[in-house]
Amino acid sequence: MRIVSGIQPSGELHLGNYLGAIKQFIALQEQHECFFFIADLHALTESSDPDELRQRTHQAAVDYLALGLDPQKATLFVQSQIPAHSELMWLLTALTPVGELERMTQYKDKAAAVKKQELVNAGLLNYPILMAADILIYKPQAVPVGEDQKQHLELTRNLAERFNGRFGETFPVPEPLIPKTGARIMSLADPKKKMSKSNGEENVIGIFDAPELIEKKVKRAVTDSYKTITYDPKRRPAVTNLIDIYSLLSEQKPADVVRHFSGKGYGDLKSELAALLIEKLAPFRERREMLLQSRAHVTAVLEQGAKRAHGIANDTLHEAQRRMGIR
Ligand code: AMP
Ligand code: TRP
Repeated sequence: MRIVSGIQPSGELHLGNYLGAIKQFIALQEQHECFFFIADLHALTESSDPDELRQRTHQAAVDYLALGLDPQKATLFVQSQIPAHSELMWLLTALTPVGELERMTQYKDKAAAVKKQELVNAGLLNYPILMAADILIYKPQAVPVGEDQKQHLELTRNLAERFNGRFGETFPVPEPLIPKTGARIMSLADPKKKMSKSNGEENVIGIFDAPELIEKKVKRAVTDSYKTITYDPKRRPAVTNLIDIYSLLSEQKPADVVRHFSGKGYGDLKSELAALLIEKLAPFRERREMLLQSRAHVTAVLEQGAKRAHGIANDTLHEAQRRMGIR
């Protein structure tokens, strides 16, 4: 099946991002024809510094390649390099009621955060139409997204149906692929909160953190006053989170991890967990270092990807243009 998804160039990735989303996302390349792109045009609706945006876009490509995205298996490119996305978006604006855009929760949240309402930029409102164009232009069967993007995908499906109804069968209606009960990794400093950078650097383990830093963060992780290691999400969220991380990284069931630590204490759990994290994350860190040294290689990968995407995207754009009477 064909799969399309966009990646926000949003900065340093953490363990929650990896175990909760990216790992499953990259695994799709083994079974499916994948088109993955860095959504720099979407980032424009929030970012203001051009150099920073350029840097983040490149960094996002480097990070995904470091984490295992294989350009031999999946097509990786930068959204803005395929102008057909923006062109199809314009065609789709004519089919999108403003009311439908105003109902999007992401729009409502982001618009509410802008101090002067008259300064809410139209990009925030039109964001889901571009996303629909990103998707429909490759005629995929499925789109892997997080729960928060489900509503945008619903709009994409509506647009596909509306277009097909008005102008004839053109776009397959894509299905959302929401990771099933994706692991929820909690903060090491406050296990009642999701691991997230917005709560501060001490709450997250960065995928590319240096070994010493990983060790320090794991050592400082909050625990509780029980003596033994048991799995109990309700009463012992802190130790349960550490067991979950250990379990996902070592690919053992939580019960087996608990058995492994029977008769041992927090000191053992923390030092073994730190060692495991360092061991599992080291290859990502090394690959990232290499990729950062070879900018030309990464640029070539993105150019290759864009070349592959370009042909398909243009064919679909031309088809849509013909159907709408402008070609
Ligand atoms: P964000 O940058 O917070 O929007 O997250 C990007 C993706 O990572 C989303 O699809 C989330 O499902 C996933 N994610 C973020 N934080 C966590 C977490 N603490 N545990 C599991 N998954 C997470
Ligand atoms: N809006 C998505 C996000 O914030 C990124 C994105 C842009 C996307 N275009 C897409 C995801 C197309 C899936 C398909 O995560």
